[in-house]
Amino acid sequence: MAVFNLNVNGTKQKVDVDGATPMLWVLRDQLKLTGTKYGCGIAQCGACTIHLNGVATRSCILPVSSIGSKAITTIEGLSELGEHPVQKAWIEHNVAQCGYCQNGQIMAAAALLKNNSKPSEEQIETAMKGNICRCGTYVRIKEAIKSVSRT
Ligand code: FES
Ligand code: FES
Repeated sequence: MAVFNLNVNGTKQKVDVDGATPMLWVLRDQLKLTGTKYGCGIAQCGACTIHLNGVATRSCILPVSSIGSKAITTIEGLSELGEHPVQKAWIEHNVAQCGYCQNGQIMAAAALLKNNSKPSEEQIETAMKGNICRCGTYVRIKEAIKSVSRT
């Protein structure tokens, strides 16, 4: 076990865990930020996507010892009241079905739009292709992202 000082959603957090612990479990079990979901645990589904210094990152394979001073943002930190433009677009387009993958989808979309406010169809597909939705909400996800890029 070791103590790690983390910057999570703009707040300093101290955790005492094994350094190999994936950030996903530090968030969920230590910090009680359960918006970030476990899907596959092997970087194949995107359910666990967070932002690391603004870049969409799979937290299920991210050891806490590798974080250092980098800024972590989770779905809880995207917007205090759920009013991030991507979250609003998700509601307007009624994107979610079962909802399980949607945290990761929203985090991936938010990272895309932060770095490229007017992504092409191809850029949207490339950025989102690693986020799997077993309910098949892909068409609505793309429409929601396009609607944000038009604003
Ligand atoms: S749980 Fe991390 S990519 Fe699937
Ligand atoms: S909404 Fe059900 S898995 Fe995506």
